Amino acid sequence: MKIITSKNAAQTLELGEAIGKSLSQGISISLKGELGAGKTTFVQGLAKGLGVSEKYYITSPTFNIINEYPAGLFTLCHLDLYRLTSEDELEGIGFDDLMDDTHIMVVEWPELLERISFKFDIKINFEFDEHYNRILSIFASGQSGSNLLGKLVL
Ligand SMILES: Nc1ncnc2c1ncn2[C@@H]1O[C@H](COP(=O)(O)OP(=O)(O)OP(=O)(O)O)[C@@H](O)[C@H]1O
Ligand SMILES: [Mg+2]
Repeated sequence: MKIITSKNAAQTLELGEAIGKSLSQGISISLKGELGAGKTTFVQGLAKGLGVSEKYYITSPTFNIINEYPAGLFTLCHLDLYRLTSEDELEGIGFDDLMDDTHIMVVEWPELLERISFKFDIKINFEFDEHYNRILSIFASGQSGSNLLGKLVL
């Protein structure tokens, strides 16, 4: 587990970018934290690190649930499950097709997936400290998550 203090949006972008640059296989990442904690900001950095074209402006897919962006050999899949209430709805968004090695899947509001014991490779929890800095706790599970976290220089 790694803990990082991010003092501003630029630092959260940088973290996302560093992770994006280090990815060499499909991976799933959950982003947990309150409204405005910086989850989408992280995804913007991740997209930059993955080489997603700057013509895309990345916002939370709160209404369309899933947005996909081409990223070289990968596809960045950005999900926001805030409005989903049952696992049946996951089928409707084609969730099962996102599990191959070409997808970088990053999920805001992942609680529904946690309830069905979906295993993310990386989990990031965002919390505020008393100065409104963001405290990011990064957890890895499984081999690919541990490899990634291990080689990440922060
Ligand atoms: N250290 C920080 N890291 C990230 N964002 C920060 C930080 N400090 C300030 N901010 C600001 O906080 C806001 C974070 O918004 P963002 O959309 O990333 O949050 P979110 O967690 O995705 O929220 P939501 O759950 O509503 O989708 C941005 O306006 C950003 O500029
Ligand atoms: Mg968001």
